[in-house]
Amino acid sequence: MKASIAAITYRLPEAVLSNDELAARFSDWSPEKIQEKTGITERHIARRDECASDLAVEACQKLFESNICRREDIDYLLLCTQTPDYFLPTTACVVQDRLGLPTACGALDFNLGCSGFVYGLGLAKGLVETGQAKNVLLVTAETYSKFIHENDRSVRTIFGDGAAATLIQAVQIDEEISDEPIGPFIYGTDGRGAKNLIVPVGGMRERVASDSGMQADAFGNERTSANIYMNGGEIFSFTLRAVPKAVDQLLEKTGLDLDDVDLVVFHQANRYMLDHLQKKIKIPEDKFVIAMEQVGNTVSSTIPIALSDAAASGRLKDGQRVMVVGFGVGYSWAATIIRWRMGCQ
Ligand SMILES: CC(C)(COP(=O)(O)OP(=O)(O)OC[C@H]1O[C@@H](n2cnc3c(N)ncnc32)[C@H](O)[C@@H]1OP(=O)(O)O)[C@@H](O)C(=O)NCCC(=O)NCCS
Repeated sequence: MKASIAAITYRLPEAVLSNDELAARFSDWSPEKIQEKTGITERHIARRDECASDLAVEACQKLFESNICRREDIDYLLLCTQTPDYFLPTTACVVQDRLGLPTACGALDFNLGCSGFVYGLGLAKGLVETGQAKNVLLVTAETYSKFIHENDRSVRTIFGDGAAATLIQAVQIDEEISDEPIGPFIYGTDGRGAKNLIVPVGGMRERVASDSGMQADAFGNERTSANIYMNGGEIFSFTLRAVPKAVDQLLEKTGLDLDDVDLVVFHQANRYMLDHLQKKIKIPEDKFVIAMEQVGNTVSSTIPIALSDAAASGRLKDGQRVMVVGFGVGYSWAATIIRWRMGCQ
C-alpha cells in the first residue's frame, strides 16, 4: 500500500488585519508598500480565546463534513504546532477528544514551523507504508499572533493564523503505470539559525523574563523577550542558500527535471522571498504558486492552503506532479513531490 493525500481543508480565524490598519499604526509604511514588499493585503488573527486546537478542530470538522472519511476510521493524528494550547498535554490529545476520534487512534504533536507540513507528509507516509496506520490526519495549526508584539511591524505584516487538515490514506497503486503518490523526500536541518526566528522566553530555559524591559530595534520595532523575534535578512539569506540546493537534490533523487513538474508550491513566506527564489531556480511563472495575499504567512499551513486553493480553482489537476518545499524556523527544511489525485481537495 502507498500513502496518498485524499483531502485538504482549512480554517482561518474570522478577524482580519488589513494593510490599512497596519499603515495607520506604522505611518511610514503605506498599504501599497506593504503589499508590494510582502504580497500580503490581509491576514487572519485568532481571538484572544481562540487557540491552535480550536482552529484545528474546525479544519477537521470541515474535512469530515465532506464525507471523504469517517472520524471512526482515523487511526493516527499528527499535529504540527509551535503554539500549543498547553505545554502538556499535547494539543493532539485535546483535538482527538474534541473531534471524537477513536481512543485506538495514535496521536502526537510535533514542533516545527514552516517545514512542518512536508515533514508531516514524510511521517504519515512512514506510518501508512509500514502498515501502522490506514487513515492519518495531518493537522497544521498555528497562532503566531499570540507571540507577536503589537509594535513590531517586521512580523505583524507577514504572519497570519490558521489551520489545515490533510487526510493521508493507504491506497493501492499500480507502480507500473504511476509514480508513487508522495515522495521521495529531502530533509535538512541547521540549528545554527535557531536564534534568527525565536521566542527567547517562556520555555524551560527562561520560564519568565528576568527583566520585563521592552527592546526597540534600529527600525523602531518593539518587543519583549517573550515575543517572537525575526532576523528577516538572515532568514532570507539562509533560504536562498538552502532551497535551490534542496530542489536540485530532490530532482536528482527523483530523476525528474523541472519540466516534468506541473506545479511548484513553496512555503508561502512572503512575496519578496518567493520572487527571489523563483528567479534563482528559474521556475516558469505559470508553474509557480503565490497564494498568500489574503492569508499571510500561516507558517506550517501555507502549503496545504495553497494546494487546496490551487485544486479548487482548477489550477492543480488530477494526475499532476506538484513539488512542495517547506523552509524556515530552526532552520529546518524539507521537500517532496506529490502526485495529485482525484478527491484531493
Ligand atoms: C522580511 C523581508 C521581506 C525584509 O526585506 P528586506 O529587503 O531584507 O528589508 P530591509 O529591512 O532591507 O528593507 C528594504 C526595504 O523594504 C521595506 N520593508 C521591509 N520589510 C517590509 C514589510 N514587511 N512591508 C513593507 N516594506 C518593508 C523597508 O522599509 C525598506 O524600504 P525602503 O527601501 O523604502 O527604505 C526579507 O528580509 C525577507 O523576506 N526575509 C525572510 C523572512 C521570512 O519570510 N520569514 C518568514 C519565516 S520563513
